Amino acid sequence: MVKRGVHEFGHTFVGIENGYMGLVEPDLTRPLTEEDTRGILPKGGTILGTSNKANPFEYAFKKEDGTWGVKDVSDEVLRRAEELKLDGLVAIGGDGTLTIGHQLSEKGLRVVGCPKTIDNDLSGTDQTFGFDTARGICTEAIDRLHSTAEAHDRVMVVEIMGRHAGFLTLDSGIAGGADVILIPEIPYRIEPIVEKIRRRGRRKRSFSIIAIAEGAYPVGGTLAVAEQAEDIPGRGVVRLGGAGKVCADLLARHIEAEIRVTVLGHLQRGGTPSAADRVLATLYGCKVLDLVRDGEWDHMVALRQGKIVTVPLSESRKERRVNPNGEEVRFAKSMGISFGD
Ligand code: F6P
Repeated sequence: MVKRGVHEFGHTFVGIENGYMGLVEPDLTRPLTEEDTRGILPKGGTILGTSNKANPFEYAFKKEDGTWGVKDVSDEVLRRAEELKLDGLVAIGGDGTLTIGHQLSEKGLRVVGCPKTIDNDLSGTDQTFGFDTARGICTEAIDRLHSTAEAHDRVMVVEIMGRHAGFLTLDSGIAGGADVILIPEIPYRIEPIVEKIRRRGRRKRSFSIIAIAEGAYPVGGTLAVAEQAEDIPGRGVVRLGGAGKVCADLLARHIEAEIRVTVLGHLQRGGTPSAADRVLATLYGCKVLDLVRDGEWDHMVALRQGKIVTVPLSESRKERRVNPNGEEVRFAKSMGISFGD
């Protein structure tokens, strides 16, 4: 984005550090030149830092008595943007970031969005960048777990991120050859999973791999991402994990094989971006400048049917989920993968 912006349009960029926090707290902005962005393609993460706890509409602050309160500082964001003489704001992130971008747009800030999350759960686009890299990491993790599962005759439960969506687990489960895939969109029962493991045993396959999304839960169960987490004002959500453990505990009541749980956690969000993600991020970044040029504010760039297009930012409010009756699930089932339903 910076390269095209500088070369083709002569734009000047200001880097805002730590997400929206950079527009609330002082000294969190800096010039973002071509020089600053040189060599960042193979780097994961972001050179500007990020924060998923800085919502200007519900900004956490420490009161004099040491307790935490929440206030609306969105007017300050608008004032700061004016002070910085911003012609527009490019918001890069998932549903939280883009929804806030839309809300700021409604207040008069000129915002364009760029969808980035490993969860791939934004309704406006077929793919967010970050997803492909995380999918590769999860697939590799499942590959590695296969070796040790086979050597020890174990059931390996691998818990994968994705919040309330199962895209990451579904894709990496298929790519990694998981025997069971459990996603939030299909609440599972333990019996079909036990049956699947026993069936494998009868075919002399003494190990099994279960890929489970962090938001997956048993039928009638209450486990969901929100319940695995404790929200501490000013510090964000403390993740406790849990979906994999719940499944393993249920399984242990029925099978004798040893069970081990691996929570991939934040390993899924690091490392070198895949080539596909680098290309997608580059195309998105360049397209953002078309939106700026055309004054298409309150919109985001998106990938739809292989084309880079623009959609209203309000689309990011609708969360996307795996279609439990869609082709990918149907074909996976047709190959014998159990979804526990
Ligand atoms: O939204 C991306 C994501 O990685 C989710 O898959 C996961 O539930 C969450 O963020 C983890 O957030 P944090 O980094 O705050 O623990």
